[in-house]
Amino acid sequence: MKVLCFGSLNIDYTYKVEHFVQKGETISSQSLQVFSGGKGLNQSIALAKAGADTYHAGAIGMDGRFLLEQMEEAGVHTEMVSVLAEVRSGNAIIQNDRDGDNCIILYGGANQAITRKQVEEVIARFDAGDYIVLQNEINELAYIMEKAHERGMKVILNPSPMDEKISTLPLNDVDYFLLNEVEAEQILNTEETAGEVLADRLVERFPGAVIVLTLGSKGSIYADGSRKIRQQAYRVKAVDTTAAGDTFTGYFIAGIAAGEPAERAMEMAARASAIAVTRAGAAPSIPYRKEVEEYQLPQIS
Ligand code: RIB
Repeated sequence: MKVLCFGSLNIDYTYKVEHFVQKGETISSQSLQVFSGGKGLNQSIALAKAGADTYHAGAIGMDGRFLLEQMEEAGVHTEMVSVLAEVRSGNAIIQNDRDGDNCIILYGGANQAITRKQVEEVIARFDAGDYIVLQNEINELAYIMEKAHERGMKVILNPSPMDEKISTLPLNDVDYFLLNEVEAEQILNTEETAGEVLADRLVERFPGAVIVLTLGSKGSIYADGSRKIRQQAYRVKAVDTTAAGDTFTGYFIAGIAAGEPAERAMEMAARASAIAVTRAGAAPSIPYRKEVEEYQLPQIS
């Protein structure tokens, strides 16, 4: 089964800071590192490192060729990434604070230059039953979802970063939602914050879909119409949380695409994202499957 990730590719400029800069404040950073990133690229790399037959579609400018090299090194097929002469690649300005938390400013660049012609050509290369993984950092998302659904592909949506555009998408075409509590609250338009309740409401709202709700240190919940699986989080010392969610998504979908039981896919996703948090950067922090299987992680009791 092939897995297509149609998503963003970013150059991440990561600034190590004591605290996030405040309104009106100027601060110095301790370091600047340049990483490959973008939710789409990170999820493709996680999928490939987890063992999925992974294809990435998207767009970069001439400045982003190293992003392709890094994806190829991880085993991602990149022939469906357009290299555009007239725009620069997407980028992200990331502050990484002393606790390992981040805040991010995005510049869309080539990620916002996807054409309908590209969408049609890409989707035509896949078959019914193949998977398509989407996030919210590229244009033409609704069109991609419609075409993939028409083709019989399984549509996975990670509605991140959340904005008003998400509610305009054909959400009833989604087979798997992978989202966090804040995204769940916004999709449901509720002030409810309890993970269990949010998971139940999402199942009610999208009865044909599987819901995977991540709850930070409280772990994650898998829910479909007939059952729920609760996965604990692993406690690790955070260096940089960037791409932890992308690692979780990639590992979970790779497991499902390989026919693993959902329990195993959830467990591997939790382990892989915990390892990613202990390392700097986005894509470079994502571990390979062998390491995830062998790593000794303490479980939160
Ligand atoms: O999810 C992390 C990613 O969000 C970063 O790599 C950055 O590029 C932004 O897209």
